[in-house]
Amino acid sequence: MVIERGRSVDPERQVEDVAEPTLRPRLLAEYIGQERVVANLEILLEAARGREEALDHVLFYGPPGLGKTTLANIIANEMGVKIRQTSGPSVERAGDLAAILTNLGAGDVLFIDEIHRLRRDVEEVLYSAMEDFALDIVVGKGPSARSIRLSLPRFTLVGATTRPAMLAAPLRDRFGAMYRLDFYGVEAMKHIVHRGAGVLDVAVQPEGASLIAHRARGTPRVALRLLRRVRDYAEVRAAGRIDAEVADAALALLEIDTLGLDDLDRRVLETLIHKFNGGPVGLDTIAASIGEESDTIEDVVEPYLLQLGFLDRTPRGRMATARAYAHLDVPYAGPAPTAVPEGRAPQRPLF
Ligand SMILES: Nc1ncnc2c1ncn2[C@@H]1O[C@H](COP(=O)(O)OP(=O)(O)O)[C@@H](O)[C@H]1O
Ligand SMILES: [Mg+2]
Repeated sequence: MVIERGRSVDPERQVEDVAEPTLRPRLLAEYIGQERVVANLEILLEAARGREEALDHVLFYGPPGLGKTTLANIIANEMGVKIRQTSGPSVERAGDLAAILTNLGAGDVLFIDEIHRLRRDVEEVLYSAMEDFALDIVVGKGPSARSIRLSLPRFTLVGATTRPAMLAAPLRDRFGAMYRLDFYGVEAMKHIVHRGAGVLDVAVQPEGASLIAHRARGTPRVALRLLRRVRDYAEVRAAGRIDAEVADAALALLEIDTLGLDDLDRRVLETLIHKFNGGPVGLDTIAASIGEESDTIEDVVEPYLLQLGFLDRTPRGRMATARAYAHLDVPYAGPAPTAVPEGRAPQRPLF
């Protein structure tokens, strides 16, 4: 995936969403995993339906590909309302957002993807819209200028972001519910692979599905992408049947290793280890030396390496851990592993 500043270009995602919309679960009951989020959403939805009110504003955050957009669409389906979708970088002026807001119907969902990329003056329009369901508009110029207040229907803002820390506090505070999506455990991932195989009409053996699930870095989007590539391989080399052996051979050809690391992940680790002696080194320096966007590394590569305990984020920069050296088969010469520093959450095992 390539994320350009101010614009995110993910051709695979576009194709995925347009060509195979059925891959997206439509209802909460079809949504696999993320039990904590689902349990909370069920209550939120049922309470709002019971009161026949618009749902409170909801923010989803977490790494790409974990199901934020899917949940936004599920919310609209479950509430039986329309969803209008836009994204932070594509709203260029405050007036554009005002136009979107005034076109919403009562109860409708406005989904703003990458909400952390809204320009500040555009974001400010949201404050009164979210809190008072009103738009303050200045008409006229100079001394005769005055502000008029337009009322908006009660709508639900659903925001999604990979960078919750980049949201301004006044915006964050206006969400009634915030949910963090985590990497999926292996059982949920297997389930997602099987469901995807059903939708795509691919014959996959349980062992083949399990192998794909283990190498999809806890991310449904990755699992579905790998499933498609393995299907291609199986059709060309194995009469379409995906068993463990076929999946393994296909993933080896794609240079996906046993932990699901791909070429970019390994380049980040190798650069850290070989060029910078394990770190600490700044993110931008790593990005520059492998010719990749810092945003891509921060959003796509790092969360999973952190989860695996391969990377440490220190105030002086990124450091490769002893585990990362071991995985790449490089002798570790750095400091002996120490206790988890205070204030840092201990690494949870992924599966
Ligand atoms: N819990 C889930 N169960 C089944 N499929 C899922 C789940 N979460 C995500 N997916 C699938 O993974 C892909 C990426 O999900 P998406 O909602 O676009 O992620 P995000 O918006 O967080 O980047 C979609 O094809 C979606 O259908
Ligand atoms: Mg999305």
